[in-house]
Amino acid sequence: MTPLKLENIKACVFDAYGTLFDVNAPARAEQLALGDKWEEIYNIWRTKQLQYTWLSSLQKRHADFWQVTGDALDFALASTGIDDGSLRERLMDLYLKLCAYTEVKPTLEILQTAGIKCAILSNGTPRMLAAAVDNAGIAPLLDGIYSVEDVGIYKPDPSVYQIAVDRLGLRPSEISFQSSNGWDAYGAKAFGFHVLWCNRFGQAAERLPGTPDGQITTLAELPPIVGAA
Ligand code: LAC
Repeated sequence: MTPLKLENIKACVFDAYGTLFDVNAPARAEQLALGDKWEEIYNIWRTKQLQYTWLSSLQKRHADFWQVTGDALDFALASTGIDDGSLRERLMDLYLKLCAYTEVKPTLEILQTAGIKCAILSNGTPRMLAAAVDNAGIAPLLDGIYSVEDVGIYKPDPSVYQIAVDRLGLRPSEISFQSSNGWDAYGAKAFGFHVLWCNRFGQAAERLPGTPDGQITTLAELPPIVGAA
């Protein structure tokens, strides 16, 4: 099979949570307090968090991602019978201190050296994204950190993907978008970006419009595909 190659890519745009940053970390860090329920809590937390973004968009009642993340955590804790205010605070606080996956920094360095711009496009609020970027030490490697707060609606609304086009001053076809969230990858492809689905957890293909150009397992596979190595 010929290796996948995307031509004429001028910028790589990344989803944040689950793609650059390990969102599993807070629940893992509090494993002791959460006991054997930590994985279940994490799964409910993340699933509800995303559902609430879609519902908020449909209802046209935007609540920012910090609010939605806290509401989803409250639901997850209540569903598993945990009532502990200080644990809730610690878990939310950990969300501001997320770590990047190990390959993220070296990958961004290779792209930057090759003259490809790098940016984040995320549901996160500017404050949440700035905190995670700072914590991961990747700020100097990014040309932009774009939040849905600019348009007050969540992914996969096309106006969100348009933010990256406008801010980078590029055509969608000059941008390669990477997300580990299948629905986000398909949404971005339906919008018009080139898309690599960073399918870290081997999920099944989505049944949605917009099949991504290809799948990768980690972001380390990205540079040669966009001509940066
Ligand atoms: C984000 C979510 C979808 O960062 O992971 O936008």
